[in-house]
Amino acid sequence: MSGSPSNTVLEVVDLKAGYGKIEALHGVSFHVKRGEIVTLIGANGAGKSTTLKALMRLTPPESPTVTEGDIRFDGASILNMDAHVVVDKLGMTLVPEGRRIFGNLTVLENLQLAAWTRRKQDTRQDLDRIFDLFPRLSERARQRSDTLSGGEQQMLAVGRALMTQCSVLLLDEPSMGLAPLLMYEMFRTLKQLNEEGLTIVVVEQNARLALTVADRGYVLDTGQIVAEGGGKELLARPEIMSAYLGA
Ligand SMILES: Nc1ncnc2c1ncn2[C@@H]1O[C@H](COP(=O)(O)OP(=O)(O)OP(=O)(O)O)[C@@H](O)[C@H]1O
Ligand SMILES: [Mg+2]
Repeated sequence: MSGSPSNTVLEVVDLKAGYGKIEALHGVSFHVKRGEIVTLIGANGAGKSTTLKALMRLTPPESPTVTEGDIRFDGASILNMDAHVVVDKLGMTLVPEGRRIFGNLTVLENLQLAAWTRRKQDTRQDLDRIFDLFPRLSERARQRSDTLSGGEQQMLAVGRALMTQCSVLLLDEPSMGLAPLLMYEMFRTLKQLNEEGLTIVVVEQNARLALTVADRGYVLDTGQIVAEGGGKELLARPEIMSAYLGA
């Protein structure tokens, strides 16, 4: 599937990035292989969202400017690529922090809009699959999205990303605002998607949950990677868990 022999799809090399004069990432390096679930954990302000936004090549002022280092996809630098090319050509999509759905549109319209560049008959299967994964969305297909519960909006945000037919999915705090049961359900759904071949990079405050599901994890602390390892391995390190268990 991947062009590189090591099967590495994403490679972040000594990345420095920031907003104006403020540097938020001070030389971050990590990699993701095809088929993996990798999680980035760390306290508030550590640079997790900044990292995901940099990967997507979203532009300032809301997103960071890369000042040094490189981001490679299948071995080639994507620093000069625009976000829409990242989505359409590379098949990498971000579910941003805080959902970003269109409140005045229905669930179905939101899903259809996410796939607006594709022919309608091609998207039918994806719609069915998303409704299969999230039966609540199916029940509420004609409901205005701003009247959905927080958890349902989160499901819709993930559904929208899946409508782009991505092969690499980045998620920024997918469990935010979800009750514990729905949180587990969300991560179980992510695991299921992963088993079907989707590569996932997930940023999470709930480190325990993320590390339980992830193949590997990286710990970010004020713009630097301070620890890395297998999900279970990091879970078993008490100093990591006490520092980054989250509030
Ligand atoms: N648009 C922006 N303009 C200026 N500074 C920003 C901007 N966005 C983030 N920052 C700063 O960059 C640093 C990293 O923020 P980032 O949002 O990446 O953290 P995070 O790890 O996602 O935190 P959280 O867990 O709270 O979401 C913080 O110090 C933050 O104040
Ligand atoms: Mg964040």
